[in-house]
Amino acid sequence: MPKILVTGATGQIGAELTLALRERYGAENVVAAGHRREPSGDLAQTGPYCRLDVRDAAALDAVVSGQHCTAIYHLAALLSAVAEEQPLQAWDINMNGLLNVLESARKHRCQVFFPSSIAAFGPDTPPFDTPQDTVQHPATIYGITKAAGELLCDYYHRRYGVDARGVRYPGLISNQVLPGGGTTDYAVDIFYAAVQQRHYDCFLRADTQLDMMYMPDAIVAAVQLMEADANRLTHRNGFNIAAMSFTPAQLAAAIQRHLPDFTIAYAVDPLRQAIADSWPRHMDDSAARTEWGWRPQFDLPGMVADMLTHIAAKLQND
Ligand code: SER
Repeated sequence: MPKILVTGATGQIGAELTLALRERYGAENVVAAGHRREPSGDLAQTGPYCRLDVRDAAALDAVVSGQHCTAIYHLAALLSAVAEEQPLQAWDINMNGLLNVLESARKHRCQVFFPSSIAAFGPDTPPFDTPQDTVQHPATIYGITKAAGELLCDYYHRRYGVDARGVRYPGLISNQVLPGGGTTDYAVDIFYAAVQQRHYDCFLRADTQLDMMYMPDAIVAAVQLMEADANRLTHRNGFNIAAMSFTPAQLAAAIQRHLPDFTIAYAVDPLRQAIADSWPRHMDDSAARTEWGWRPQFDLPGMVADMLTHIAAKLQND
């Protein structure tokens, strides 16, 4: 059984991934570590939890060695829009946090999962069917930390044999924990607004097409890649993975099929629009499909139906 540390466990991915890992490998084998946000009841009650700043190398190493960890899912990071507001802090958290994780992994022979992003690409990247290996040149500090992170993970593998693996996530849509400070957050916010107010003011233009994915697929991707036979992997980090690709107008239309009185208006935020405009529209994920069997379950209609059910139930219980 692996013994796992999840950093960023209170975040949008971490909260759900931690519970999925506990289900799979046993609750006592998955240590959740959060920093800024308070852990939800589930997270703190279903298994070990600690507070950890990933910039503190000694504290991180003490948890990894003290808990005899064999794998680290490193999710702690600042997202794209908030990173543009605080570039130095974003560099510190995203890069030094990853470096500390890789160093502990090198010392204690841990496997590492590192989530990269569509943000690792930039305006020079082919926007449609974006190849696995292509020009990246990200234009945001967040994207720079993701592209550099992919390279650093590959370096630790080549130089020290650290089994670091990762995917490039599209925008992630989920109904447990809210994302914070990302550019694709509109695709989560819209559901709460649709259920509560029947109206949403979107901060991206109606025609801004981006790759997106529903959280259950994102969780499966992480676990499946980490369990994949290493002999089948030609790439290790920054695997393109795709599930659906849509614009705010198309998402609104899909919601209107369930809630016909839902309306959308556009109040474009220039910062987040510029970030979105620098990202690819749809990635080619054939390397992930061939090398470790990636295959998403949710398309746009399936995701919208499931999200509306969950958000309606959640708001009713609040
Ligand atoms: N969803 C992220 C963001 O918008 C991209 O990885 O920042």
